[in-house]
Amino acid sequence: MKSPFEMSKESMTAYGYKIVDEVVNHYAITNQKKPVTKASRLEMDAIFLQEAPENGLPAEDVLKFVMQNVIPNSNISTHPKSFSFVPGPSNFISTMADTLATGFNIFSGGWMLSPAAAELEIVTMNWLLRIFSFPVKRGGGIYTSGGSLANLTALTAARSIKCGEDFSNAIIYLSDQAHSSNIKAIHILGFKKEQIRMIPTDFEFKISINKLKNEIAKDKLQGKKPFCIIATAGTTNTGSVDPLEAIASICEQENLWFHVDAAYGGAAILSEKGKIALLGIEKADSLTVDPHKWFFQPYEIGCLLVKDKSWLSNTFSEKPEYLKDIEGNESEINFYDYGIQLTRRFRALKFYMSIKTFGLQSFRKAISYNIKLAEQAEYFLRNSKNWEVISPANLAIINFRYHPLDINLTQKELDILNHKISEKVIESKEALLVTTILQNKVVIRMCLINPNTTLKHIKETLKQCEFFAEEILNT
Ligand SMILES: Cc1ncc(COP(=O)(O)O)c(C=O)c1O
Repeated sequence: MKSPFEMSKESMTAYGYKIVDEVVNHYAITNQKKPVTKASRLEMDAIFLQEAPENGLPAEDVLKFVMQNVIPNSNISTHPKSFSFVPGPSNFISTMADTLATGFNIFSGGWMLSPAAAELEIVTMNWLLRIFSFPVKRGGGIYTSGGSLANLTALTAARSIKCGEDFSNAIIYLSDQAHSSNIKAIHILGFKKEQIRMIPTDFEFKISINKLKNEIAKDKLQGKKPFCIIATAGTTNTGSVDPLEAIASICEQENLWFHVDAAYGGAAILSEKGKIALLGIEKADSLTVDPHKWFFQPYEIGCLLVKDKSWLSNTFSEKPEYLKDIEGNESEINFYDYGIQLTRRFRALKFYMSIKTFGLQSFRKAISYNIKLAEQAEYFLRNSKNWEVISPANLAIINFRYHPLDINLTQKELDILNHKISEKVIESKEALLVTTILQNKVVIRMCLINPNTTLKHIKETLKQCEFFAEEILNT
């Protein structure tokens, strides 16, 4: 039988070039587009909701339909005015690398099936181990789909190494600013609510060391088994870094697993300021970093580093008979033994190609620029009479709110006002700018990790916010 999916070389070339042209054009003119798109389920259903066709359509028609309906109905995470959540600035080399990896459909699960893919995962992992001052020989790691899966993988290993089979009495500690993926992972792993200690943060949004120590002491007195502390290095809300050195000492004294969730902030270690902010990160047993955030990679690539790679293989290795032939020797790593997935896409390729092409120097430059940009934004806000800074520039994140000094507004009114400002900005589609809540206040948050974002973009958006604020106050 002739494969029903076969296409001629000419038609594949024409089709492929069309897509490449679209992507290149997207990179070239991103700044001229609006970053925000909004559509209801009803509107989307009206366009897309159809039964799967029994007979196919011409490939060009399907592509045209996609370009007209799918792409314009997606927010542009690479846009310089995409300020919210954690933007995805990405880069073109990695985008093409992903296309290459998918084009050749390279299986990145076991050594035997693609030695080069496994080797590049080992090599780039070694680069990361060195960057974070982890031991290269004993240490190791694995690429995951993102930070959530890296945290889940880390906590699975932590539970297995520290608690073995019985974890009914084990207690895990994290701050009220830790990312929700950690709580999700803890639940997936079968811990009960009573086994989680959510420790309050201080005025800098860092875990309170005194309260953490008190909770551990209390739990020990009650016969519980403290087993793991999750520190955050770059919280999603404010970019704050928990006191890593102090937590490392507690973990050492109490024999606890030290996990650092640096999914957001980890990359900052490549900058001078970030290096200082992240002192102590090298003491972690396990460390999540997310290349698809501040290492400028396209989705999906997360990463888990561990001090001892045998912790991963001891936790995840299974030896089914159908994988016997591809087991290989110990140095030829089968990454299916290090984590949850067996079939895995070739994530290391984009990281490898972009670092080889641009050099670490470019990453250092971009990250240092981002940190400085947030500081400049803070300076600008502090010198404007209508703005109040709620959390200072911290690893390229800043939180603030519109708070005119010459008008008397209650906390509630300020919350409503700032919420409405963000709604109006989004409605205008000019910038993606949403709120978060800090110290019970609704605040506007900017995450400035896009190297194409300039102070001009920020000032334009703030001006727009001021315009909307006046409009709201005058109605
Ligand atoms: C600190 C932190 N940890 C974990 C995650 C989850 O990462 P992902 O969305 O890649 O699963 C995020 C996402 O923003 C984060 O900021």
